[in-house]
Amino acid sequence: MKVSVSILKLEDKNELKVIENSNPDYIHIDVMDGEFVNNTSFPYKEVETLVDGFNYDVHLMVNDVKKYIDDFKNINPKYITFHVEVGNTLDLINYLKDKNIKVGLAINPRTDIEEVIPYLGYIDLVLVMSVEPGQGGQKFIMDTIDRIDKLYEYRKDKDLNFEISVDGGINDETIKYVSKCDIVVSGSYVTNGDYEEKILKLRGVL
Ligand code: DX5
Ligand code: ZN
Repeated sequence: MKVSVSILKLEDKNELKVIENSNPDYIHIDVMDGEFVNNTSFPYKEVETLVDGFNYDVHLMVNDVKKYIDDFKNINPKYITFHVEVGNTLDLINYLKDKNIKVGLAINPRTDIEEVIPYLGYIDLVLVMSVEPGQGGQKFIMDTIDRIDKLYEYRKDKDLNFEISVDGGINDETIKYVSKCDIVVSGSYVTNGDYEEKILKLRGVL
């Protein structure tokens, strides 16, 4: 189980260093434009000054996906994930593929999971939202379990190899519901207390 530690805001560079030193597999940078979700976070200009080449997993909760891809490609992220709810999905997948960045497709809790099925053969990761996007510290939505199962079964049946990631309300309790995922994204659980210990707990080591 890989762990991606989610950050919605950063005071300064050394806060990022503290997270990096706690050895997560990825740092999940939540980018919000104030339109797709009614919250804003991490304008590129701010991120540019903070990052220093870690494994970034960029989650774009934005409408103008291409504009943000053009910016965030410059921090050489492992993944850039955008939302299927934005539309124009195949064009955006191809726009990302040309940049040698792994393509993530995110789906909100209230969107029918069937919406991502047509794209599963073209993407590297599905980000299953287990909270409504827009803020951290929310409660895990239990319907997510069934949605993850559906993707897991579909991947097996069709012999596909996209990764399954889950984002929102992940802690030492809810982690037991998402064992079929390859990656879990966790913000408030990990960043309240001993980061390294929390990450090891989510990995099932502690
Ligand atoms: C929500 C973000 C999530 C969130 C996770 O819009 O995409 O990454 O910050 O935070 P927790 O783990 O606190 O739910
Ligand atoms: Zn996120």
